[in-house]
Amino acid sequence: MRAYAVAMAKQFTRKEISERNTKKDAVFIIDNIVYDVTQFIDEHPGGHEVLVNVAGKDASEDFDDIGHSLDAKELMKKFKIGELVPEDHIKRQRRSLNWEDNKTENESTFVGSWKFPLVLGIVMTVLYSYLFG
Ligand code: HEM
Repeated sequence: MRAYAVAMAKQFTRKEISERNTKKDAVFIIDNIVYDVTQFIDEHPGGHEVLVNVAGKDASEDFDDIGHSLDAKELMKKFKIGELVPEDHIKRQRRSLNWEDNKTENESTFVGSWKFPLVLGIVMTVLYSYLFG
């Protein structure tokens, strides 16, 4: 362990975590944070099997797929034991709801619509003839 790590969160490699995959030692990764849920397994409202299934693995997607409540996210802080070493981090593209999805591009604003250049042309013509006509 490097000396400066004492003040920092404990760091684990994915390989180290992969060995901790049993009900008696259940550790997994969610968003590059490492959680030890051994004590929690029998209390997990979603059942113990799901947690044992992801023990030793990266459970980020599974955790998100369930749509855990804010309470659950608060609770999981109690089980954090450290982080992944930076070399083992993965970046995930978070799913985000995009309310613009059902509109086709260029239709959402006046500036983006086909009418804009037309109106701009008329305004410029009127302005030009007013100033220089
Ligand atoms: C430390 C990590 C975790 C904590 C603290 C936690 C906590 C909870 C809590 C409090 C609930 C009740 C519902 C809610 O409040 O959202 C729940 C439900 C559930 N959890 Fe977790 N959970 C964790 C990890 C996971 C993981 C990794 C999985 C999947 C592999 C999982 C699967 C489920 C399922 C299937 C339910 C039931 C959902 C339902 O009944 O609709 N949980 N969990």
